[in-house]
Amino acid sequence: MRIAIDGPASSGKSSVGRLVAEELKIGFLDTGLLYRAITRRAIDLGWFTAPITAAEVADTNHEQVRHNLTELARSTDAQGSGSAFTMVIGGIPLADSQLEAADVELYVPAVASIASVRDALRAVQRNVAARGGAVLVGRDIGTVVLPDAECKIFLDATAEKRAVRRATQRGYAVGSAEHQAILASLIARDAEDRARPVAPLIAATDAITIHTDEIALTDVVKQVVAEARRVAR
Ligand code: C5P
Repeated sequence: MRIAIDGPASSGKSSVGRLVAEELKIGFLDTGLLYRAITRRAIDLGWFTAPITAAEVADTNHEQVRHNLTELARSTDAQGSGSAFTMVIGGIPLADSQLEAADVELYVPAVASIASVRDALRAVQRNVAARGGAVLVGRDIGTVVLPDAECKIFLDATAEKRAVRRATQRGYAVGSAEHQAILASLIARDAEDRARPVAPLIAATDAITIHTDEIALTDVVKQVVAEARRVAR
């Protein structure tokens, strides 16, 4: 069983995906970590000196950066099994905690907009799904990575609700400057992910969309598990 869960930033994909995988006893991969890992490494190598948009990274001045990022992607792997994967670039592992920083979120949509980077990471993602089934969460799992997944879900929620969830998770008060910054960052990232020409964030035509604003996480998990069991019959 391959389950594709897509949706905007902080829509609950990882929490839901992990619990669904646990319930169904299959693997779990948060594919955003692959894009974050490459971005983290590129920042640490000093490749980005100023914020860059997807449109800018596509122009002729950035050919070398695109080439370098593609090489990084080709040496990137998700190593592990079950639901415990570590992102590894050129044999060096990256801790998940390194991948959550605000600077990563600033640059990652530009990195993820590069077709050759996505091509390299697609193979990694398909390999994980091929090992006895898995839940993969991301932006283009149902549309591009696993277009023939047995079960496709699109999780949606308003940016306001998602920002409150993320701020609370990180221990910031609702209405704080940090909460406002999270909201602005989510909106900017979603806009870039939706607008890019390659593998944009969009629900697959055969996906079931669940709006999670008013639904508890446990109920979303129940709905996805029920759908997975229904299609497996
Ligand atoms: O899901 P997460 O917020 O960790 O994803 C980080 C970024 O990686 C997204 O904003 C998007 O630009 C990119 N991404 C993607 N395709 C995926 C998963 C993530 O383009 N399947």
